[in-house]
Amino acid sequence: MNASMLSYILLSCVLLSVQAQKCHVREIILYTKYLLSETPESCPCSETADSPCSCLPIPERGHELACFVEGTEHMLKNNMSSSDRLSKTLAMLNQSFQIQQDRNLCKRLTQGKKCQYKTKGNVRRFLNEILNTYQEIIK
Ligand SMILES: *[C@@H]1O[C@H](CO)[C@@H](O)[C@H](O)[C@H]1NC(C)=O
Ligand SMILES: *[C@@H]1O[C@H](CO)[C@@H](O)[C@H](O)[C@H]1NC(C)=O
Repeated sequence: MNASMLSYILLSCVLLSVQAQKCHVREIILYTKYLLSETPESCPCSETADSPCSCLPIPERGHELACFVEGTEHMLKNNMSSSDRLSKTLAMLNQSFQIQQDRNLCKRLTQGKKCQYKTKGNVRRFLNEILNTYQEIIK
């Protein structure tokens, strides 16, 4: 291995970890896994239903963060959490997303400022989308 290759590898590692940090990847994965573990199995999403069957946006590529902010706020406003611990976790998730949005961090998820979605899904599907999106960043 020559020197320039080594510095390329080092630089990529640094960039990757900066990216992961800016996107709050670790904390978001942690919060989301906890929320998923407490969210009952699926029911089809329905516009008139309450949690966990209410409809949340499943974002198009590049619009992830805007949709995650929207969906999380919707969950918070509609009292979707059955316990204190759940609502606190949800509030922390909301805060992480809002910080990323306000400070324009995590650029790869914010090419689109508005939430454009492919479809809507229930709470489990929404949470899984968050999890997959952030897990891809650290892969
Ligand atoms: C959510 O819960 C709080 C406290 O339990 C209650 O005061 C509030 O009215 C509820 N909001 C909705 C939209 O159900
Ligand atoms: C989400 O977080 C932001 C920033 O901390 C806060 O201003 C907002 O009120 C929160 N939304 C809800 C529904 O709690």
